[in-house]
Amino acid sequence: MLTQIVLPGVVEPDGLLVDRRPLPEPGPGQARIAVEASGVSFAEQQMRRGKYYDQPAFPFVPGYDLVGTVAAVGPGVEEALLGRRFAALTKTGGWASDALVDAGDLVAVPDGVDPAAAETVVVNGITAWQMLHRAAKARPGGTILVHGANGGVGSTLVQLARHAGIRVLGTASRRNHDAVRALGAEPIDYRDPDLAGRVRTLAPNGVDAVFDHVGGAGIVDSYRLLAPGGTLVSYGTAATKNDPGNSQLPVLKLIARLAWWNALPNGHRATFYNIWAGRRRRAAFQARLREDLGAVFGLLAEGAIAAQVAARVPLTQATGALRLAKSGTVTGKVVLVP
Ligand SMILES: NC(=O)c1ccc[n+]([C@@H]2O[C@H](COP(=O)([O-])OP(=O)(O)OC[C@H]3O[C@@H](n4cnc5c(N)ncnc54)[C@H](OP(=O)(O)O)[C@@H]3O)[C@@H](O)[C@H]2O)c1
Repeated sequence: MLTQIVLPGVVEPDGLLVDRRPLPEPGPGQARIAVEASGVSFAEQQMRRGKYYDQPAFPFVPGYDLVGTVAAVGPGVEEALLGRRFAALTKTGGWASDALVDAGDLVAVPDGVDPAAAETVVVNGITAWQMLHRAAKARPGGTILVHGANGGVGSTLVQLARHAGIRVLGTASRRNHDAVRALGAEPIDYRDPDLAGRVRTLAPNGVDAVFDHVGGAGIVDSYRLLAPGGTLVSYGTAATKNDPGNSQLPVLKLIARLAWWNALPNGHRATFYNIWAGRRRRAAFQARLREDLGAVFGLLAEGAIAAQVAARVPLTQATGALRLAKSGTVTGKVVLVP
């Protein structure tokens, strides 16, 4: 039997439903994955409130990513995949005991890597790697500013940057400063009214890149803190998460502002990172994901970066997992285990 968690509409965490039905058969090009780990990210918190800028119509099964082993393959898929462990970026559908995934979307998990550990770096690792190396093209010896340095994406980004020989200033709430320091970053309180002044004291010439998932008024400081030729990578608008109305509008406004900044002749770059950009050119998109997530998995396997597993929660207790993830009391990712 398939067990899955259904988000029926805008509900409190205890409104999630547990649904059981016969196992689905994989269609052409698909593999059925026996899921070993999925996770709770900011996206599911927003989807539950109907506030994620790009979510499907209710009801649906949430779960942005998963790790598991191939239990069955459909026509046209190599049987050699059976029994092997893979990860996939799914956007939805991960919160299930079993999931159908296009075989081309699978990324191999190295032998010996724990499924929950691997899970913490799927969406977080792809996002962090692509922002650091593709969007900002950060270089060893540079200095970057990472907002939310103890979060899922932020903590991965800090570790990847430190591994690449980059100095990191990281914002977080005060209670998380020790965790940020342990990752190798210099913590700054994001509630400090003189946050920008604090960054300028630590990096008087500005920073080579800023990674900003907050948006709102603070994005102006993020831009102004850049060193000559620096890059602002914006990737969210957490500041507007409670705003009423259309959830796409704040993102569109932000993108328009970045475009305007890019037209200024000062050598700075400002870009909005979207993990799904380019997905219409499917083969190239899948190849890029395999390369980038493969690189992150490689670093995890060799111990160059550490997984931040906040807790392992049984799938059927997804309500508790959601509550725990949004409590602000944990560092790293809450992982759901079927
Ligand atoms: N564009 C894309 O393709 C893409 C892909 C993946 C994720 N994202 C975005 O990335 C963001 C982070 O996701 P996540 O799953 O890593 O979330 P998360 O684990 O909940 O982390 C959020 C972090 O934000 C910090 N934070 C809260 N308010 C802040 C503020 N005013 N200034 C600076 N930091 C603040 C929190 O710090 P404390 O815990 O210390 O309060 C926490 O470290 C979300 O906005 C998500 O939508 C975007």
